[in-house]
Amino acid sequence: MEIKKVGVMGCGAMGLGVAQVCAQVGISTVAVKATPGSVEKIRAGLEKSLAKVVERGKMTAEHMNSTLGLLHLTTKEEDVADCDLIIESIIEDLDTKKALFQRLEGIVSPQALLTTNTSTLSVTAMMAVCKHRERVAGLHFFNPATVMKLVEIIHAFETSDDTIGTLDAFCKKIGKDPVIVQDTTGFIVNRLLTPYMLSAIRLLEMGTGTIADIDHAMKSGAAHPMGPFELADYIGLDVVEAMTLNIYQDMHQPHVAAPHTLTRLVQLGYLGRKTGKGFYDYSVKPPIANPQLRHPVA
Ligand SMILES: NC(=O)c1ccc[n+]([C@@H]2O[C@H](COP(=O)([O-])OP(=O)(O)OC[C@H]3O[C@@H](n4cnc5c(N)ncnc54)[C@H](O)[C@@H]3O)[C@@H](O)[C@H]2O)c1
Repeated sequence: MEIKKVGVMGCGAMGLGVAQVCAQVGISTVAVKATPGSVEKIRAGLEKSLAKVVERGKMTAEHMNSTLGLLHLTTKEEDVADCDLIIESIIEDLDTKKALFQRLEGIVSPQALLTTNTSTLSVTAMMAVCKHRERVAGLHFFNPATVMKLVEIIHAFETSDDTIGTLDAFCKKIGKDPVIVQDTTGFIVNRLLTPYMLSAIRLLEMGTGTIADIDHAMKSGAAHPMGPFELADYIGLDVVEAMTLNIYQDMHQPHVAAPHTLTRLVQLGYLGRKTGKGFYDYSVKPPIANPQLRHPVA
């Protein structure tokens, strides 16, 4: 089966990025805003960011126009009715995602593939609410979706080989580098990265080093492109907390429990780059470590 039209559910950081990736390679794409409000602001933001890419000489003006022309932003879920592939990228909440999968089965054709971009939730749990389970799988992109090459294709309990084959070909067509993973909490990358970020937060709480020192050590000593706090802020601390809770629920091991500092930052709405403050304060350039987190808090 060839994927000619894609529907992306959710226009957050990941949803919009995934929709852009598809439109950029010439695939007609519908991106559905999942929460109330108009899509005008989102379109204006996308136009502005693509114009900057053109200014930097990384894209031609023609390519920008064709990408924008192929990307239909909407608030109506029914607009994905004729899509061959759905990529769900809404809030990381299992009940909300399950309800969406049930609604989608009533909207798309029985042949259309239904996938989720979940970071750590069970794809099989979303599959379980569907009638046509063989067409349900995970397509886990990485942030920013326009840049990162990896896509984890998640083989859930009853995903068919045909579905996996179609998704593998699709990922390659959109310029990605897929790996097929069985449906276990956190898949490969987040199962390894989440405990690493949590360990960094515990080192901070113990007073082992400052935010800047721990980040510097991992960049300079382990050749990581970002330190663990820069990474957590980039991902979004609400997403990191959701991944933590899901992995903890699966493993019940103390080293994957949510550290105090992470919980408090999320409670305060300090979610990292997207809110302007997290482990770092982005209101100043270059960003400085959040001054409220200078001291051990354990
Ligand atoms: N941030 C990352 O690094 C990353 C990477 C890969 C996958 N993901 C996954 O992608 C998905 C979206 O994450 P994001 O980083 O784009 O988050 P985001 O905060 O940028 O966007 C969240 C999206 O969820 C929608 N939403 C919020 N509340 C909702 C509700 N009650 N019902 C339905 N939709 C609601 C918003 O409209 C928005 O489209 C999540 O499943 C996340 O785990 C995130």
